Amino acid sequence: MDSLSSTPATAPNATSADGPVAQAVAKRRTFAIISHPDAGKTTLTEKLLLFGGAIQLAGAVKARGDRRRARSDWMKVEQERGISVTSAVMTYDYAGCTFNLLDTPGHEDFSEDTYRTLTAVDSAVMVIDAAKGIEAQTRKLFEVCRLRDMPIATFVNKMDREARDPFELLDEVEQTLALDVTPASWPIGMGKSFLGCYDLIRDRLILVARSKGEKPDEGELCSGLDDPKLDELLPGWAVTELREQVEMARGLCPPFDLQAYREGTLTPVYFGSALNNFGVRELLQGLAEIAPAPRPQPTAERAIAPEEGKVSGFVFKIQANMDPKHRDRIAFFRLASGHFKRGMKLRQVRTGKQITLHNPVLFMAQDRETAEEAWAGDIIGIPNHGNLHLGDALTEGEELHFTGIPAFAPELLQRVRLTDPLKAKHVGRALQQLAEEGAARVFKPRLGSDWIVGVVGALQFDVLADRIRTEYDVPVIFEPTTWITARWLEAEDAQSLKAFCDANQASLADDHDAQPVFLARNTWHLDDAAKTNPEIRFLKTRERV
Ligand code: G4P
Repeated sequence: MDSLSSTPATAPNATSADGPVAQAVAKRRTFAIISHPDAGKTTLTEKLLLFGGAIQLAGAVKARGDRRRARSDWMKVEQERGISVTSAVMTYDYAGCTFNLLDTPGHEDFSEDTYRTLTAVDSAVMVIDAAKGIEAQTRKLFEVCRLRDMPIATFVNKMDREARDPFELLDEVEQTLALDVTPASWPIGMGKSFLGCYDLIRDRLILVARSKGEKPDEGELCSGLDDPKLDELLPGWAVTELREQVEMARGLCPPFDLQAYREGTLTPVYFGSALNNFGVRELLQGLAEIAPAPRPQPTAERAIAPEEGKVSGFVFKIQANMDPKHRDRIAFFRLASGHFKRGMKLRQVRTGKQITLHNPVLFMAQDRETAEEAWAGDIIGIPNHGNLHLGDALTEGEELHFTGIPAFAPELLQRVRLTDPLKAKHVGRALQQLAEEGAARVFKPRLGSDWIVGVVGALQFDVLADRIRTEYDVPVIFEPTTWITARWLEAEDAQSLKAFCDANQASLADDHDAQPVFLARNTWHLDDAAKTNPEIRFLKTRERV
């Protein structure tokens, strides 16, 4: 805590001597919110946008969602099940910083999409329900962040409800996630007697009673916890409890250490209530001050520093257009380096083709607008007709392959059955496109005419069937298959791979990139194939490069 400055955030680490790219980079905060469904991610997102001045009215995020849903048939699935299956980017400014907030679907069936989104952010905010603590999905997503040593700030939400003891919550974060914790604020009471928080960074008392509405109170500056002001402003029980608890917390938790946070080993914890706009400003200020600016991005060739003059970046998400009648898509492109300008020609490394970016899109909270320029760390949307694939690198010429964008082994496989056999060709095209988009894995067995579709969560089948029907006009049904799992095949020498494939035609399929895949009927089948063919690697995941 001690090393946090109490001055408002200004582009840290950038000086006027730095070039324009370095200055723009220092101001950028590209982050995502991770949480278990219902912890309050949507509410917090909305409040962050409200404080960032990106929206005027609370409720706008939802209203926008409703309008969007009404326009798209397949999203009925989303509406009916009350879940959010799409993710978007929202850009807003606050305290001299430009924030790019990448929304992630909360439902676990769509975690694959979430994982990929996490490859495009530099830090995360973990939202925890104060009554529930760390839940399954939070933990899963946290593990993904940990793989990337991602800095995480924690927001304990719903303090206005009956909550668990703050010490117990801190302890749970520390124990279950093996992460050092340090409180950035301390809650005073909870539930009906939740009075507010003491901001341990700026020594301010922020009271719920004064923070109603959209412009919460700035808080009362104190000279420390011994300040007699506290005795005037708080009832006796609350001051005593606050002083005792903070003293104890300071004894138990390490002080804030910027480096440990940036390395992903310590999380500052903010308490609040997103619904009541409470604690949101402190979180935003915290992010402006301590969250990392765009970090170097790994590629197979070298690490790409964001300040580099030349533009480079990668596609981490592809989303079908909201209008099902037009099959164009938006590729979400994270700029890893440089200063992008509209009309720029970039090289698609996979194909060697030049692509001119005439109509890149920036995502503001309520609108999309044409991106005239963007800087490293920003996300732009590139409309295209399917030529951009997940993991594609675009550069000003350099041969770069960004790493760490995973393709997941599907955990559930089903066969596609056409209700109209004349549409076999159409379904092939639809599946190919959906696979390229990353909505599912699609396998064409070498024998027979079936298509096998693999997903990570069962709900994806419903969404896919709905999309194939509405976007491609092909009614399909997903049916159980004899295959239980799929493995990508690799071998040091091409000959042995070919020999294995030839000898196992009945279990062989090709994915949408024509990569060979082994389909297994059961675990014994898979284990046996692996044991008798040690020269072949059976891979659960395949990196998209
Ligand atoms: P999610 O995106 O993480 O799934 O959560 P979301 O924000 O949708 O919040 C889930 C529920 O929790 C919502 O109630 C929301 O109003 C409520 N909530 C969020 N933050 C707070 C908070 O600080 N305090 C309290 N008491 N409740 C909070 P709902 O009834 O499911 O939806 P709605 O009808 O209110 O929209």
